Amino acid sequence: MRRAVARHSPTTVNRARHIVNLQTDVDLQPYNTLAVPARAEYYAEVTERGQLPELLQFAREKALPLLVLGGGSNVILKGDFPGLVLHIRLTGKTLVDEDRDYYRLKVAAGENWHALVQYTLEQGYWGLENLSLIPGSVGAAPIQNIGAYGVELKDVFERLEAVDVATGELIEFNKDDCAFGYRDSLFKREGRDRYVIVSVTLRLLRQPHLKVTYPSLREALASVPLEALTPRDVGRAVCAIRQSKLPDPMAIPNVGSFFKNPLVGLDQFMELQMHHPGLVSYPVDARHVKLAAGWLIDRAGWKGVQRGPVAVHSEQALVLTNPGRAPGAKVLALAEEIRHSIAAEYNVDLEAEPRVYP
Ligand code: FAD
Ligand code: EPU
Repeated sequence: MRRAVARHSPTTVNRARHIVNLQTDVDLQPYNTLAVPARAEYYAEVTERGQLPELLQFAREKALPLLVLGGGSNVILKGDFPGLVLHIRLTGKTLVDEDRDYYRLKVAAGENWHALVQYTLEQGYWGLENLSLIPGSVGAAPIQNIGAYGVELKDVFERLEAVDVATGELIEFNKDDCAFGYRDSLFKREGRDRYVIVSVTLRLLRQPHLKVTYPSLREALASVPLEALTPRDVGRAVCAIRQSKLPDPMAIPNVGSFFKNPLVGLDQFMELQMHHPGLVSYPVDARHVKLAAGWLIDRAGWKGVQRGPVAVHSEQALVLTNPGRAPGAKVLALAEEIRHSIAAEYNVDLEAEPRVYP
């Protein structure tokens, strides 16, 4: 279970101007990859862990809602944020331990995820190759247990440290504590808005163990014999697949997959399959199957559809884009139209993947 490892000394702060780095009325458009226009009432860049207790106390005293922000690649800002945005910019990587099989690498929450993947591949620490090119920060990776091409964060996760928003206490969470699931963790449920993750420790392999069973990855690597493949080859293949279908947020604003892939019961799956023979699905357990939401949305005719400033991506129907840099409400209106259409067409309920604020 979780364990307090340190307690920050409390500091009394009554006025915003006493806190280094605290700003008011800050433009958040550059800090969210959907490029939604929105402003933060209060905003602070957190570059040192020691800044957190004072900032958290300030938020408590003023009863301000908190938005802990990393790369802003999985948030939808519906409007201005009437509270304190804590932009996590903590940096640093430490090899804390190594044994016969593993390297344990502790990484600060503000490090860029893909830069970390590249660093580990350069060092010969294996295991992150399938998770190449996922935007965002290391500290956000446990929130939805990031996953791609047959690997999830939980497969390489050892522990994390987080500051308790209510007490300023530093708490350690092991893998079981985090209750990881598909696009899910404690931090989306009971732990929601209760912790600021400050570091994540990963357990990486000394000997490569390649996972290349995900259909599009297997296809991309089909011409190379398995024994000749390296983790760096897998990383390069994953990057190439992603670049061929996912829009670069710097060019076309987006938050990646807009909906989770839905889980359905076996009976419903068999009925759907009868009416839609090409249905793409993945086994989950004896009673459930996961459907490819992108396939459903694509077959329902949404791919490439444009609604003024917002659109359904032409190469991947699960991705909504915001080329017009419109307010979040416009993107959410298109998502709602799609959700209704999928419910009507397949009797399947789609759930949004990114978090909507406020
Ligand atoms: P943010 O958007 O800043 O925050 C997301 C959530 O995490 C918020 O609720 C925020 O409060 C919380 N949070 C962030 N940092 C912390 C912290 N330090 N402590 C506590 N809470 C925190 N995701 C996948 O899983 N697989 C993919 O393949 C994938 N592909 C993507 C492709 C594209 C083009 C894009 C734009 C997104 C993709 N995503 C994918 C989604 C996104 O990259 C991940 O969810 C990523 O982990 C978000 O990181 P971030 O730092 O941008 O988080
Ligand atoms: N498909 C279509 N049409 C589309 C989109 C997809 O027919 O417009 C089909 C594909 O041909 C394929 C299947 O649907 O047979 C699955 O597509 P893909 O491999 O692109 O993956 P996905 O299920 O759409 C999920 C994740 C992605 C992750 C990839 C690779 C979710 C919600 N999304 O997408 O994560 O990168 O698998 O593992 O689970 C994200 O979370 O933001 C994200 C991009």
